[in-house]
Amino acid sequence: MTEAATLTYQGKTYELPVIEGTEGEKGIDISRLRQTSGLITLDSGYANTGSCTSAITFMDGEKGILRYRGIPVEQLARHSSFRETAYLLVRGSLPTRKELNRFSVLLNDASLVHEDMKVFYQNFPKGSHPMGILSSMVNALRSFYPELQTMEEEIDITVTRLLSKVRTLAAMSYKMSRGHTVVYPRPDLSYCANFLNMMFDSPVKPYEIDEDLVEALNVFWILHADHEQNCSTSAVRMVGSGRVNLYAAISAGIAALWGPLHGGANQAVVEMLQDITASGKSMQHYIERAKDRQDPFRLMGFGHRVYKTYDPRAKIIKVMCDRVLDKLKISDPLLDMAKEMEEIALRDDYFIEHNLYPNVDFYSGIILRAIGIPTNMFTVMFAIGRLPGWIAQWKESMDDPQWKLCRPRQIYVGPAERDYTPVDQR
Ligand code: CMC
Repeated sequence: MTEAATLTYQGKTYELPVIEGTEGEKGIDISRLRQTSGLITLDSGYANTGSCTSAITFMDGEKGILRYRGIPVEQLARHSSFRETAYLLVRGSLPTRKELNRFSVLLNDASLVHEDMKVFYQNFPKGSHPMGILSSMVNALRSFYPELQTMEEEIDITVTRLLSKVRTLAAMSYKMSRGHTVVYPRPDLSYCANFLNMMFDSPVKPYEIDEDLVEALNVFWILHADHEQNCSTSAVRMVGSGRVNLYAAISAGIAALWGPLHGGANQAVVEMLQDITASGKSMQHYIERAKDRQDPFRLMGFGHRVYKTYDPRAKIIKVMCDRVLDKLKISDPLLDMAKEMEEIALRDDYFIEHNLYPNVDFYSGIILRAIGIPTNMFTVMFAIGRLPGWIAQWKESMDDPQWKLCRPRQIYVGPAERDYTPVDQR
């Protein structure tokens, strides 16, 4: 029997069904609340609102658990490839060898972008942020790759096109921003190695692919591949609910991810650590600023809406940072600073009481620096990683017979009805 919650208002009682997920989380289904009682719910930032049921990603913020399609992210980071994880998220199960091979062929076939798209890069003002450029370019993909005949074809082909072309577009934007020759994708390279080669190969200085860096990028992208109903994923679902094409919905997701409270935090962390060094002030000084409510400064890379413990992704990235930097004999003073900051913050009562721990963005910039990615492209790297999640969530919403146009309500608190005043009487 389904459980129910009751709501009593003005002497009337309303029964609201309680929905239970496979991991035991429960939610009150209020979908008929307004119809039966005239009431709506108010939940700033949607901190208590489930916007959908989903079978893609499970996270437990108290225990620090993250699983894609049931598989712990730690296992995927250890054994899987980003390509295989993308398949898992989008299709729902791990591919057989044959399916994985076919997926690779599709990704390779889709990896070039229309040559005319290069012209766009030349027209963005110098210094434009790569996230703004990427969002525009992805939206423009629809004009170059018009709608396909059937929805099934549209999903199959558009999904691989996006996963493959966004990676090419990102590397291309880096090359064009430096005034260098574009490097095309190669059929013999893996998904991650191909990206690194497109970024760093040059006709005068061939790029030597380092398997440690390829592996680091592989893990980085797996850890970013999905995170259930976060800001950018909700943007993709929300925009997609108007039945817009997938390119436009992903373009909206990229725009949402750009913000420093969301994906833009990886860039903000490195800039914060650099600012601290340049200021000559102590780490403690910045910790005190972060605790001061009157000061807008926050410790970037700390805190999370859902995780109230150490972000499981940050744990993996921190270990990887040590391993990769050690192996490549890179000494990055920012890594030492980050560790010192973490140590001070985790001993501090304010951070303990507020359950503020490092999130995925705290150490990810260090690994991206080791790979050679420029700071202003960090969030682009997050976006490439998040693509499978966005696509899987969009596809799930499209396949859901209950999925409706997303249209929240509001409580109006503006002026009551009043008459228009002609301009000379104001
Ligand atoms: N530094 C200092 N204080 C903080 C921080 C921080 N990084 N994060 C939260 N707090 C405090 C905040 O001031 C508030 O204090 P009080 O209750 O005394 O007013 C309390 O903790 C709750 O904060 P909130 O902003 O209401 O919580 P939220 O769930 O809305 O915030 C967050 C989540 C990620 C926006 C926030 O922790 C933050 O701004 N962190 C820094 C930016 C960052 O690292 N973002 C990346 C998130 S992980 C990547 C992703 O998935 O997008």
